[in-house]
Amino acid sequence: MHRACGQSTRKALRVTAVDAWERYAENAQPRRAVNAAGAMTWFNWTQYPDHGPNESVLGDVRGRNVLELGSGSGANLAHLATLGAYCTGVDLAPTREAAARQRWGHQSYLTFVTADVVDYLTNTLASFDIVYSVFGAVWFIDPVILLPLVRKRINSGGALVFSHLPAAEQETHSNRMIKKWNYPAEEWVELLLNEGFNATTEIIPAPAADQPGTLLVRARAVTFEPTLSTARRMSPDAMTA
Ligand SMILES: C[S@@+](CC[C@H](N)C(=O)[O-])C[C@H]1O[C@@H](n2cnc3c(N)ncnc32)[C@H](O)[C@@H]1O
Repeated sequence: MHRACGQSTRKALRVTAVDAWERYAENAQPRRAVNAAGAMTWFNWTQYPDHGPNESVLGDVRGRNVLELGSGSGANLAHLATLGAYCTGVDLAPTREAAARQRWGHQSYLTFVTADVVDYLTNTLASFDIVYSVFGAVWFIDPVILLPLVRKRINSGGALVFSHLPAAEQETHSNRMIKKWNYPAEEWVELLLNEGFNATTEIIPAPAADQPGTLLVRARAVTFEPTLSTARRMSPDAMTA
């Protein structure tokens, strides 16, 4: 009985979230055809055009399985596909998948899926070398739910990288209609460590002093190796000692 109530509540929340993101998509500007450097595809971690670090933050992507959480219209992912990555983008809003396919459908090794990333990660059998999110689903899902699912599907040593507004800027600059997990950098590091990731953070300064910067979190899935004490506990000799 309780379980059924919980499921219908979750379903209702999902419908509300899809509606909210579809409304957001209606006003989203498509990415420019060409950037300031004259490139037709590029990667941007920030909310400002032609600003901040590029895909090099992810390391060498050629031949890697890459997953974007909340891929929007797919422009960052399309860039990684041009560099030889095998790319999957997941987004909750159906029109985002349609827009991404329309703009980037000609590109090889690029797949777009409409799903809640929690459902996607729960159900997929795929594993990934790189998982990332740019102002995307990592910001909008309770990390206690999301991070263990990412850890399950990411290869040991794999990279989880995401960006969003710094916590200090949330109140003044963000849309309050959509719930966000507004953790300061040091809390993200702690949360990630608890779920098997080593992480570092930085704030990418904005182009102008009166604008908010961008929080960039880089994490690596830790390879679990037995410590000496674990190995002793597990060794048959230790049992007889
Ligand atoms: C602010 S937009 C950013 C889109 C894209 N990453 C970009 O940089 O343009 C956030 C995106 O996350 C998606 N999103 C939010 N919650 C999600 C969830 N639970 N599962 C999948 N996608 C989600 C939204 O539909 C939206 O397209």
